[in-house]
Amino acid sequence: MDKHLQSTLHEDRIFPPSDDFSARARIKSRKELDALRAKAEADHEGFWAGLARKELDWQTDFTQTLDESHAPHYQWFSDGKLNISYNCLDRHLAAHGDKTALIFEGEQGDTRHISYRELHREVCLFANGLKSLGVAAGDRVILYMPMTPEAVIAMQACARIGATHSVVFGGFSAESLKDRIENAGAKVVITADGGHRGGKVVALKAATDDALSRGCESLEKVVVLKRAGNAVTLQDDRDVWWHDLIEGQDETCEPLWVDAEHPLFLLYTSGSTGKPKGVQHASAGYLLNAITTMKWVFDIRHDDIFWCTADVGWITGHTYVAYGPLAVGATQIIYEGAPSVPDMGRFWKVCQDHKATIFYTAPTAIRALMKAGDDIPANYDLSSLRLLGSVGEPINPEAWMWYHRVIGGERCPIVDTWWQTETGAHMIAPIPGAVTTKPGSCTLPLPGIAIDIVDPDGQPISEPNQGGVLVIKKPWPSMIRTVWGDDQRYYDTYWGMFDGKYYVAGDNARRDEDGYYWIMGRIDDVLNISGHRLGTMEVESALVAHPQVAEAAVVGRPHAIKGESIFAFVVLKGERSADGIDEDLTRELRDWVAQQIGPIAKPDDIRYADNLPKTRSGKIMRRLLRTIAAGEEITQDTSTLENEAILQQLQGKT
Ligand code: WTA
Repeated sequence: MDKHLQSTLHEDRIFPPSDDFSARARIKSRKELDALRAKAEADHEGFWAGLARKELDWQTDFTQTLDESHAPHYQWFSDGKLNISYNCLDRHLAAHGDKTALIFEGEQGDTRHISYRELHREVCLFANGLKSLGVAAGDRVILYMPMTPEAVIAMQACARIGATHSVVFGGFSAESLKDRIENAGAKVVITADGGHRGGKVVALKAATDDALSRGCESLEKVVVLKRAGNAVTLQDDRDVWWHDLIEGQDETCEPLWVDAEHPLFLLYTSGSTGKPKGVQHASAGYLLNAITTMKWVFDIRHDDIFWCTADVGWITGHTYVAYGPLAVGATQIIYEGAPSVPDMGRFWKVCQDHKATIFYTAPTAIRALMKAGDDIPANYDLSSLRLLGSVGEPINPEAWMWYHRVIGGERCPIVDTWWQTETGAHMIAPIPGAVTTKPGSCTLPLPGIAIDIVDPDGQPISEPNQGGVLVIKKPWPSMIRTVWGDDQRYYDTYWGMFDGKYYVAGDNARRDEDGYYWIMGRIDDVLNISGHRLGTMEVESALVAHPQVAEAAVVGRPHAIKGESIFAFVVLKGERSADGIDEDLTRELRDWVAQQIGPIAKPDDIRYADNLPKTRSGKIMRRLLRTIAAGEEITQDTSTLENEAILQQLQGKT
């Protein structure tokens, strides 16, 4: 790696918060923000302890804030006891029981409003149902569900009884589901007959049956929500309908007081090896940062209608759908389906119909909606919006400007939030009433979050605009606790690079002369497809599992809407066709990958060659493949290449 990375992005437009916005904001000025940050810097533990006592309801107060004795398995507030579902529901009932918690809209247009009191009741019924199936504290429960209120109810019910949930995105295949059930050692799967997505019914129960037929020894019960009405088969001794399970259950379920460090959930995410890793989060620290960021970054208020478009299968759908908005007693919108059904105006129609005030989505969605044209959002009344957010990948300035102008009416601040599954909550993001934004920059670290950029030797880079490795220098409450069942992998992935000194996020970044952060991309072999992380190794393993494939290398290629698309170079076991094009096989391999991992992992391009470009020591030259995939001129030194002649083939020239 070059000691320093050069950045090519230059952006000098700036957008200070309006006086109106600042005047009503929770944090009103840069001065106020800087004071908060200084307070955290002066006493890191005291700062977080104060917030933990202020923002969370404890059954037993904690005496120790940060326990470093098992570092880098840091523990926060560890002798305190609380319940996460109590903090999200019960504590609002007295003052705001009738306030709407969830406004749900299905893809087909059905809507439901659920108050805090109703949500509490549903969660209690389902929690009692889970208990009746023998689910106890510490048991793992997998969710494989459509984006309906029941997904949130199931997560909250698990939290209520101390079960550890792990949500598997409904777009993942049966094979991926099986891997996760087995890795988690899960006892129960909660699924649905099907969900509506993109105008189709996603047959979740059928995929669950398929997964379970492949193994999953630990699995005892399957709970099935009736949602889409598609035909399913229930296995007598194993499967139960959700509505039958809650029938006759008690409407109260006392929350189980758990340790602050109790594992709230596992969420599987991609890394640079083929095997997905179960990121394990704890309870109190996780919820604390969900709350502080809801307040600081989203500036959430009692009368807001908050809409985060993320599916509960991703971390964003955990922190900013299932937990954060509820913990602060907000009203939020949940939409089941795709942004394109029935047309590209759907998001704007949902914003208009339910009067969304805060809208949080991913750059890939923004780019797709931008491409559909300005006249579509112009058909809707978006005047209720007051704040916009972006997450998942760097937002290109052009998309940022469109978001600002067309959706935000040049009135709404944009919060570009940098964070990860592993960080649990926003780490770098503008405070909208206090920080001037720059299109494409996630701006400044939040109070109490010690971000830096270091060179490969771990030395801080103080010179502006020099790229380096993004690190977090002090533990924070919502940090990952470990990789489920694999402490070594936890250490190697996040701490090994600098011998346990810093948390390594896996991103490159630079800091400009104003101290603003600009994320430059991943340092490992992780792709970012439509804001979703996918390891190149995962796709390669899937390809190589096909009987005709001998070898495969996968790289990312810049893509106007998805950010990155998947480009696979494949070496076949037999002969390849003379022109390197084989449409039937390409179709077959794409479907194969979708079956193995899920449709999001389908390669957009597949190119066949007799060999892959390797160094004499046998390492695939990925950088070279990236250049080829991007259709750029090869300027790299190829003298270490074993077989230079295959370059022609890889470029599709022979
Ligand atoms: C990328 C999603 C630039 C980054 C919450 C990170 C971003 C990975 C941003 C985590 C952003 C996320 N600007 N890059 N605002 N947000 N990323 O775990 O590479 O799905 O490491 O969490 O997405 O992806 P994950």
